[in-house]
Amino acid sequence: MMVYHQPVLLKESVDFLVTDLGGTYIDATFGGGGHTRELLARISAGSRVFAFDVDENSETIANGLALRENRLHFVRDNFANLREVLQQKGISSINGALFDLGVSSHQFDYEPGFSYRREERLDLRMDRRLRVSAYDIVNTYDTERLADVFFKYGEEPRSRSLANAIVKQRAKGKFDTTIQLADLVNRICGHSVKSLSRIFQAIRIEVNGELQSLSDGLDAAINLLLRGGRIVVLTYHSLEDRIVKEKFKYESASCVCPPSSIICTCGKVARIKVITRKPVVPTAKEAIENRRSRSAKLRVAEKVV
Ligand SMILES: C[S@@+](CC[C@H](N)C(=O)[O-])C[C@H]1O[C@@H](n2cnc3c(N)ncnc32)[C@H](O)[C@@H]1O
Repeated sequence: MMVYHQPVLLKESVDFLVTDLGGTYIDATFGGGGHTRELLARISAGSRVFAFDVDENSETIANGLALRENRLHFVRDNFANLREVLQQKGISSINGALFDLGVSSHQFDYEPGFSYRREERLDLRMDRRLRVSAYDIVNTYDTERLADVFFKYGEEPRSRSLANAIVKQRAKGKFDTTIQLADLVNRICGHSVKSLSRIFQAIRIEVNGELQSLSDGLDAAINLLLRGGRIVVLTYHSLEDRIVKEKFKYESASCVCPPSSIICTCGKVARIKVITRKPVVPTAKEAIENRRSRSAKLRVAEKVV
């Protein structure tokens, strides 16, 4: 049987998340619902879970689950909008929020244009309602913008050469498929799987506005959390992890005055305390059993005001 997605650090993340058995929780990234199911199994009858995902396949799974689970409420929206969406539903506070970032195995293995191993039209949209796909980016961005995307989001050392080569090749005809792009990446970046992953990841981040959504989603969740409530975040690459780390650092600081200041004048208040000084990572057993868990980092913070 096809497994939609094998949840990562399942027990650990839900252990951290649940602080009130009758509470209101957010699963910001429903995917195949692995974390939501575990959460629902732990919390009591009066509790609620609001699950978000932009992917239509996740919506189908969630709607199926909601037929027999009235504590689950699914919203097909970007988690960056979670505050507005919950406000419309009359929810102004929550007991916990879980973010399990990136793509699901189903997206990577079966959804169009996600893998450089399958010949498909360039796409990479998690949300098929988005107007701009990888096809548009690769075929319309100028050299500067392409190089920026590859460098900022893929940390690819040959960003500029690749951007130049794409624009040059475009003069002869558009890039239609994943394999056409992969062939060029191989030629310019030296047949390295690392470069292929970096470039496809970079374009995916740009298409889906992933880093801005993450920053907005974390802000919204921290604002909504009740005192004692927790935010639990699973990241899969250094750019995501840096954003979470920096956000937690800033929100847990009680002063942001320059080091040269003799007295504090900033008036900053610490709104969270960091629970995981070092990120929790999968055990060797989990990393072997679920290869996609290998890069996972779990960070947790608790609201203190
Ligand atoms: C790693 S999977 C989550 C897997 C899930 N925890 C499970 O157990 O099945 C990430 C999911 O988040 C969704 N996603 C990514 N960014 C999103 C965003 N900004 N807003 C809503 N959903 C998002 C993706 O569509 C994908 O289904």
